[in-house]
Amino acid sequence: MAAKCLIITLDGPAGAGKSTVAQALAKRLGISYLDTGAMYRALTLKGLRAGIDLADENALAALARHTRIDFKEMPDGTLNVTLDGVDVSRQIRTLEVTNNTFYAARAPKIRKILVARQRQIGLRRSLVGDGRDLGTVVFPKADHKFYVDADFEERVQRRLRDLKGAHKTVDKARLRADMKERDRKDLSRSVGPLKKAKDAIVIDSSGLTVETTVDKIMRYLS
Ligand code: C5P
Repeated sequence: MAAKCLIITLDGPAGAGKSTVAQALAKRLGISYLDTGAMYRALTLKGLRAGIDLADENALAALARHTRIDFKEMPDGTLNVTLDGVDVSRQIRTLEVTNNTFYAARAPKIRKILVARQRQIGLRRSLVGDGRDLGTVVFPKADHKFYVDADFEERVQRRLRDLKGAHKTVDKARLRADMKERDRKDLSRSVGPLKKAKDAIVIDSSGLTVETTVDKIMRYLS
């Protein structure tokens, strides 16, 4: 029988550094990285392109059932996201997609479909996954659970740096308001809200570099 896969979950709000930390941690451990946010984003991108009403849960669910979202690990360690076989790694990071993912995220039918796919991936390989509900809903029996947080202002600064690095023009006040709103929506939805699992260890990444945060997490794994 195949050995049980190792599952490590990192939940937390946007901009807390989860994805960069999760990716670096997965690399150090030599296991896969699962970016669950990318799945909600990719489906949102497909819905926007198809021109469907994203608030229509049944229409979005019908689309989700005929959508393939895959991850491809690149030689440089980054993760490419494909939507129905086409690389959309950059297209899923636009402001339009970011500000519209809440439709897919709040829809119970969509969460059911995406959570099932995430669990399937976890059956096949050891992974570090990041998202909002991984320790609470997707992998309640994960081997290690972390909740990564940081000061709100620092989270805003990090997002600004990321966007500037991607050569996108950003209005700081607008970004701050968008992040506040995204936090509110993530925390308040009735299914799969952003929540610390009871048995998750809180990692405050404020003022820490990616490597220091990974070091901190690694200490809990041995
Ligand atoms: O993590 P990221 O910012 O890429 O996630 C995009 C959006 O997808 C989040 O704002 C959140 O609402 C949603 N999401 C979710 N559940 C997850 C991961 C992300 O609802 N497990």
